[in-house]
Amino acid sequence: MDQLKRQAAARALDEVRDGMQLGLGTGSTAKHFVELLGERVAAGLKVIGVPTSEATRADAERCGVKLTTLDEIDHLDITVDGADEIDPELNLIKGGGGALLREKIVAAASDRMIVIADDTKWVPMLGKFPLPVEVIPFGLGATRRAIEKAFAECGVSGQMAVRKAKDGHVFVTDGGHWIVDAQLGRIADPASLAKALSAIPGVVEHGLFIGLASSAVLAGGEGIRVIERRKPKGD
Ligand code: A5P
Repeated sequence: MDQLKRQAAARALDEVRDGMQLGLGTGSTAKHFVELLGERVAAGLKVIGVPTSEATRADAERCGVKLTTLDEIDHLDITVDGADEIDPELNLIKGGGGALLREKIVAAASDRMIVIADDTKWVPMLGKFPLPVEVIPFGLGATRRAIEKAFAECGVSGQMAVRKAKDGHVFVTDGGHWIVDAQLGRIADPASLAKALSAIPGVVEHGLFIGLASSAVLAGGEGIRVIERRKPKGD
């Protein structure tokens, strides 16, 4: 599996040109991309990156990839990131690693987002992977009730749980927020659910990435498949 992730990362690297400004994703697949990018940088490639998490910042620094922020530059050429699920419209569930907020800010600031994954992430319909919803701890009871209402209005339901870290304490995101994971099973209309969740005051962000991915690079036993999104970004 790890080899497939690295193959997908290597294919995305083919799209990178000298002088590009890159969004650097988070997770085990994106980590392969950062490592391979570091090898190219050591060989003379000139790029600059914006990391989507403190973990990726550390990886990029270790690999010698020069970093900047979205305050210092006005756009990114390409963001390369992993995903937890990818549907045929290239809508995604992200946030299994807890970095969804910065990942979405960076993806939205990019001309193109290339999703890299092993092909087990490819699904006919989103929802089997628990949907991460990043929330403000204050007023969580009210926010949970509002989320449940939004789920009901969008025809989905399922158990919600505040994410715990490995040490048993509540998982805290890089932004200081908590994550509620929702086991929805099937999300028939991810775009409507995304809108409904975004309208809740205590929700900082959610893991539905709608219309952000431009292409997906899927590595499987039979080789690599590149799927291009047909609709323009944001649709
Ligand atoms: C991080 O918050 C996530 O969005 C990751 O991009 C996603 O969980 C994929 O991670 P892996 O590449 O480790 O499967």
